[in-house]
Amino acid sequence: MDKLLITGGRPLEGEVRVSGAKNAALPIMCAALLTAKPLVLTNVPSLADVSTAASLLGQMGASVERGDDGRMTLQAARIASRLAPYDLVKTMRASVLVLGPLLARFGEAQVSLPGGCAIGARPVDQHIKGLQAMGATITIERGYMNARVERLRGARIVLDLVTVTGTENLMMAATLAEGTTVLENAAREPEVVDLANCLIAMGARIEGVGSDVIRVEGVRSLGEASYHIMPDRIETGTFLAAAAAAGGRIRLLGVLPETLDATLAKLRESGAAIVTGKDRIDIEMAERPAAVSVRTAPYPGFATDMQAQSMALATVANGTAMITETIFENRMMHALEMQRLGADITIQGTSAVVRGVEKLQGAKVMATDLRASAGLVVAGLVARGETLVDRIYHLDRGYEALEKKLGALGARIRRVK
Ligand code: EPZ
Repeated sequence: MDKLLITGGRPLEGEVRVSGAKNAALPIMCAALLTAKPLVLTNVPSLADVSTAASLLGQMGASVERGDDGRMTLQAARIASRLAPYDLVKTMRASVLVLGPLLARFGEAQVSLPGGCAIGARPVDQHIKGLQAMGATITIERGYMNARVERLRGARIVLDLVTVTGTENLMMAATLAEGTTVLENAAREPEVVDLANCLIAMGARIEGVGSDVIRVEGVRSLGEASYHIMPDRIETGTFLAAAAAAGGRIRLLGVLPETLDATLAKLRESGAAIVTGKDRIDIEMAERPAAVSVRTAPYPGFATDMQAQSMALATVANGTAMITETIFENRMMHALEMQRLGADITIQGTSAVVRGVEKLQGAKVMATDLRASAGLVVAGLVARGETLVDRIYHLDRGYEALEKKLGALGARIRRVK
């Protein structure tokens, strides 16, 4: 199994280009199920999760062609199977995003329940509740959600909590429903907006995206479209956190700075000098970072997907920071691994009190999930000596060529067997 070997303690310098957003690419790929016509995507990142989504769509009978430079053409002209099997759903929860499109276009879908997850329980009750409100009959049998409907009809749905993929599933389903659907307490994440813009390009009628009330007027069918996936704001934030922790000066290209307001505010508070352009961000950290507390929240709040990286920054900051996780109940596993690097962290429920230390020391650590891995890589870049990060298949799910990009910034990092 691959591991990452990092020899830390060196500032970062140089520029890198950020990839297309994983969490926009996955729902947008599933949106291809809503039409028999082709969907041509560009800026699709080369990631394990994207390959999993391609296999899932391929198994159903969709054609998936991948070209150079992140180009992908999807066409679900004939769908032989409306099944998302357990084997794929358990490796990637986002597979549940086929439920809304399949049900809306074919009137039936069989999707495995995702089950538990390393970062928390993560139920899908809001997806189910919303589709039921739109007229679907959903039964749970032998671990599968069996959904059926003649034709979905528009409904007013108030989500109990803000859910990103829940909003996406219901928004996709509503595009082909009869009448108008109003989603209240909808997620405002930029990836939801990106999906909506793609659906609109396919002919959907959607208003209010980016706010917490989304209105979808159903249409009979959707057509072909070309769509460019937005840049990955979490990859961007991970590089920014790495530069802030390790010090130095880097430039990130092909980014969307306005999707990173909360992250940029926290990094500035920690002492980083940041200049943003239309599609670039320059960051310079000339001194030891100041301790900055964060509390995760739905967008536009501080992203839970940046929590581990911000904890890594806090481990070497001057002062004490409180990191509070409000979205997932078990997303602090990286804290124990960071302690192996010499970090001073006390967990209190869903908060971590991080007392910054002058130096971390390299050690062997183990990644437990995607963003935990990213946090460990950031910590490894700062730690003196060698850090070996195990189980980096988690990283490959969501970061394209991370070690190559960090290498281009002068980090000593390589993949080892
Ligand atoms: C999305 O997951 C992202 N994944 C996650 O990114 C991200 O951490 C998360 O949103 C929060 O921003 C994709 O976009 C593919 P939620 P999602 O539904 O949609 C509870 C990464 O590292 N909930 O917004 O699954 C849930 O348990 C990943 O890239 C219900 O109770 O998250 C959680 O506490 C990890 N019932 C909260 O809502 C439901 O029906 C928010 O989860 C749905 C969710």
